[in-house]
Amino acid sequence: MKPIKVAVYGALGRMGQTLVDALCREPDMQLVGAVDIEAAEKQLPLPDGSGTVPFSQNLDEIISAARPEVVVDFTTATAVMPAVRLAAERGVNLVIGTSGLTSDDIKEIDRLAQAKSVGVAVVPNFALGAVLMMHLAKIAGKYFDFAEIIELHHHLKADAPSGTALSTARAMAKAKGKPFSTPEGKASAGRGEQVEGISIHSVRLPGLLAHQEVMLGGAGQTLKIRHDTIGRECYMPGVMLAIRGVVNRKGLVYGLETLLGLE
Ligand SMILES: NC(=O)c1ccc[n+]([C@@H]2O[C@H](COP(=O)([O-])OP(=O)(O)OC[C@H]3O[C@@H](n4cnc5c(N)ncnc54)[C@H](O)[C@@H]3O)[C@@H](O)[C@H]2O)c1
Repeated sequence: MKPIKVAVYGALGRMGQTLVDALCREPDMQLVGAVDIEAAEKQLPLPDGSGTVPFSQNLDEIISAARPEVVVDFTTATAVMPAVRLAAERGVNLVIGTSGLTSDDIKEIDRLAQAKSVGVAVVPNFALGAVLMMHLAKIAGKYFDFAEIIELHHHLKADAPSGTALSTARAMAKAKGKPFSTPEGKASAGRGEQVEGISIHSVRLPGLLAHQEVMLGGAGQTLKIRHDTIGRECYMPGVMLAIRGVVNRKGLVYGLETLLGLE
């Protein structure tokens, strides 16, 4: 079987570099080009020493020169939509990991993917363990009336609560069909952010990366579901799954759940 030709958009970033490295080790993938606004050379040396690939600040140039089947985006929110419009127009599939897309962006991506018959995966969290944590929390939440979330991240994280914690709380309430119960008369700033009856507590400390614990409580028992991200390489199996997924389907797929067969 021929390897899937992949270009990385945002190749000099923390995720981009981890992905370039991971692609070189994946037998069914071939890194054919790289793009970054900070690109200073025309070729990017491969970390395994096996050669170089075309490198540019311009995605259009790399699509023409390297003919990737999939572009993987780890840039910034403002760079995503121009890349989606260009890739869709050129018939190139996309995997988008960049955070900060609006619901209007998602609607436009969906429309473009269908109109241009390309596969696009928008994946807010590539960590398989985090996706499973949310899935298990949705199942468990049906059997408990009280739940709280403690999310712990490094001190440089821009947002609080984290997007994953907010999505978890909303997904748990949706699966349950109603908000969770809150202990009466206990509302105060110290109880954290309230989302669908779930208190979300945000810890920010140097030394942490990304961690989340969902705690469920009922009479005489608690259940804890916890995920810990220890290194950026945890995202790579999810990125590879999304790359393999978009070459085989047309239209938008949101999140890894569908590709993992969880819904
Ligand atoms: N979906 C997930 O599981 C997941 C996991 C980690 C990070 N992220 C998200 O991925 C994105 C990247 O994260 P990071 O830590 O690698 O950030 P980073 O700042 O280290 O890297 C971003 C890279 O994109 C490049 N860039 C910015 N604008 C560009 C443009 N217009 N054209 C080309 N290149 C451009 C920058 O030069 C930089 O090298 C963020 O939005 C982050 O939140 C998602």
